[in-house]
Amino acid sequence: MLDRQPVDDYRAMPATAGAPTEVSFLPLGEKGLEVPLSSGTHYFNYYWLRDADPLTIDPATRERVFDITEIEGGPQACSAYLDSDSLVIDWRDEEHVTRLPLATLEGFVVDGRTPDVAAITRRLWYAGAYSDFARFRQADVEASDGIRCAFSRALIEDGVALITEMEDSDEGLTRLANQLGQVTPSTDGYYFDVRLEIAPTNLAYTARALEFHTDLPSEDAAPGIQFLHCRANSVDGGSSLFLDGAAAAEALREEDPEAFALLAHHEIPFFRRHDGWDYRAHQRVIELDRGGQVSGVTISQHLQDAMDLPQALLDDYYPAFCRFISMLKEERFVTRFRLEAGTCIVFDNHRIVHGREAFEASSGKRHLRGCYVSRGSVRSTYRVLSRGVDAQAEPASMANER
Ligand SMILES: [Fe+2]
Repeated sequence: MLDRQPVDDYRAMPATAGAPTEVSFLPLGEKGLEVPLSSGTHYFNYYWLRDADPLTIDPATRERVFDITEIEGGPQACSAYLDSDSLVIDWRDEEHVTRLPLATLEGFVVDGRTPDVAAITRRLWYAGAYSDFARFRQADVEASDGIRCAFSRALIEDGVALITEMEDSDEGLTRLANQLGQVTPSTDGYYFDVRLEIAPTNLAYTARALEFHTDLPSEDAAPGIQFLHCRANSVDGGSSLFLDGAAAAEALREEDPEAFALLAHHEIPFFRRHDGWDYRAHQRVIELDRGGQVSGVTISQHLQDAMDLPQALLDDYYPAFCRFISMLKEERFVTRFRLEAGTCIVFDNHRIVHGREAFEASSGKRHLRGCYVSRGSVRSTYRVLSRGVDAQAEPASMANER
């Protein structure tokens, strides 16, 4: 229990200059304040309160222009009271009064974090979900902030969306990606083309089947949101296979919690080597968010390096790993479809596991052009756009597009 005894007798405390004459001063603790809010009384630390002062933010840059380390001994209140919709704190040894909107405090105490409209509960999906994927026309995404907002929300909530009536050009994909953020480079540069190559540097550039994977875990920051723009697909075979890795991982947690814990806790190595590069990185197979929910998975048997966990740990880790890989192949999770020319599938590369069936190379042409943007840029886009979208209209607009 923190020592939160008042250091001053608030009943005897003189009113702060400028304070209303009839106010209830709050008792001052040694390190913070108990503040009565609509949901009850909540404790706030003085450092936190001083940094939360809206005046610490520069109105032009909207960045913090206050250095709390310059307050010798740390901030201490000499009085605090509630004034209609604000908490007012007069700071000791400073010529400064903080006026903090109670709405800021009310929002923060809900779960101890700054409220975030992008903190949307993931909607897990299973086999046959392809027909339920959100669909938007490229022209609509580019013309309407409401549609762009719904598009970004679908990527946060479902991890996947389809863009139809794509412009058949390199620039078409760039314009679409830029609706969410800047294109981020990977080993292959800013863009990659999935088609047959004479000397392939990736299994994707062959006609072979591609086992379930997430892209490039060999890079420290594996790509976030992936775009695959189908420019041509007239081959026999080559169906796309997609599944929600978060749904599969949550199923593993339910069915084999010990295996889940191993995959969520330990990192394993991935590599990508060729003549001109040698990438290596460690990743957890199951990624958890700060709330302990599955936010993603990392799977790539073709880029998996020799396991470097202690050999005795592998006695348990490998069976857990194989069980999860086997689960991903189960029909209950997989949705199978043919990606048609003019369609772009957009998905969270950390959550959605994808693969491809083999195709007959001589039967036609198959060309997908791809790129990535960061997951953070999608959440940023959603936060900005959702400020301007009528909260009531948003779900309706999503429903209309599905
Ligand atoms: Fe891929």
